[in-house]
Amino acid sequence: MFYDQRGLPLTAANEQAVLSYDATINAYLGFQLTTGTHLKEGLAADDNMPMLHILRGYFMKLFAVPALEDKARQCHEATSRAISACGSHQREQLHHRALGRWCDGDWQGANAAWEQILLDHPTDVLAIRLAHFTHFYSGDARRMRDSAARVLPHWDTSVPGYGYIKGLYAFGLEESGDYQAAERWGREAVDDNPSDIWATHAVTHVFEMQERHDEGMAWIDELSKQWTGMNNFTFHLWWHRALFSLEKESYDEVLTLYDTQIRATQTEEYLDMSNAIAMLWRLESRGVDVGDRWEELADLSEQRTQGHLLCFADAHFIMALARAGRTEAIQEMLASLRQAAHRDDTQCQVIARVGVTLAEAIVSFHEGRFDAAFEHLLPARYDVIAIGGSHAQRDLFALVLTEAAVQGKRATDARALLAERIGLKPKNPHAWRRYAEALELAGDATAAKTARQRCSTLLSA
Ligand SMILES: [Fe+2]
Repeated sequence: MFYDQRGLPLTAANEQAVLSYDATINAYLGFQLTTGTHLKEGLAADDNMPMLHILRGYFMKLFAVPALEDKARQCHEATSRAISACGSHQREQLHHRALGRWCDGDWQGANAAWEQILLDHPTDVLAIRLAHFTHFYSGDARRMRDSAARVLPHWDTSVPGYGYIKGLYAFGLEESGDYQAAERWGREAVDDNPSDIWATHAVTHVFEMQERHDEGMAWIDELSKQWTGMNNFTFHLWWHRALFSLEKESYDEVLTLYDTQIRATQTEEYLDMSNAIAMLWRLESRGVDVGDRWEELADLSEQRTQGHLLCFADAHFIMALARAGRTEAIQEMLASLRQAAHRDDTQCQVIARVGVTLAEAIVSFHEGRFDAAFEHLLPARYDVIAIGGSHAQRDLFALVLTEAAVQGKRATDARALLAERIGLKPKNPHAWRRYAEALELAGDATAAKTARQRCSTLLSA
């Protein structure tokens, strides 16, 4: 009988495979570049170990790339063969089911299997991490928070990786709006392990939501020293770092971070592309010239007009296509999204609920049809949460709506939306500047003057 590092039974042929399994899980939790190498070592030691095939299938799914879907299914089939040949524990069977459901596009089914595992095996860190992931990309902050809270009492310093659970809980708390508790749990995790980048990220989000830009910049600048050997998730942290600079209107710094960190490597991973697309869009909406930076993002997005494994990513891809004026690809993607809206897998349900509307509004906006963009997006604005991602990421789509109102010269709509915005971001000079413009548009010169003064005061602070 073999056990993993946290005492959970594993079906395996030898100790080496189990050690490699543990190393793979730990590297995955630590966002390490070595994750795939450990997995290969494990499969070389035992190519019939169910959890290794399941893990490989999960990794294929996490990429959310249509080209890897077959490989994920092959992993599911390889697991079936391994289980027939070598037997399995009930927990492993539930993971097998979760992978199968996920391959079928049934996120709720996959999630139910992970949460089922956690009732009996609350230290199954893989189930915890994947449940966290799917809750996140379902826009379900409370499930993210509660899923971690349910297992926390079963963890302490004697269980390897306790800090990672604190970090997951911190992020669930942050996205649920409990910034104080989020910061406490996140800082504790980072104190335990300064290279815990997910916990670092959770605290970064607190700084973002509370407009603590200087603290956020210092936090990332200091902790980035710990990121040697880490994977592309570091680009997302640099995106956050640039977001702090953006709010301080240090646009040259944002562009430098874009070129040297966020998009230093022009990968086709959806998160990397989403970081870049969101940042370019924000820069342009402030009148910053971003040169030809859209082109490579549009080239890559042209290859992603179909598949629809993650609505969050699709909403960004179409933005790149729109900004680069790729008319044919835009029409192809819109048609494909409309078709996908009739399918019944989880992401297609999200596309039906809000994805098509969002994509159409983005395209209308970039064609200069601001009224159409506004009228399309306004009724759907509170459904955008269904695409998942963080509040900070989805703010991009709130900005599309607000800009559609401003640029469409819809005075009272613009004034109302910008009043909301300064309510959320009272220290944001750009929001005040835009608010002043909307007030002028609405004919309220006195209030506009006050808003402009507020903007100047914030900029000179
Ligand atoms: Fe983030």
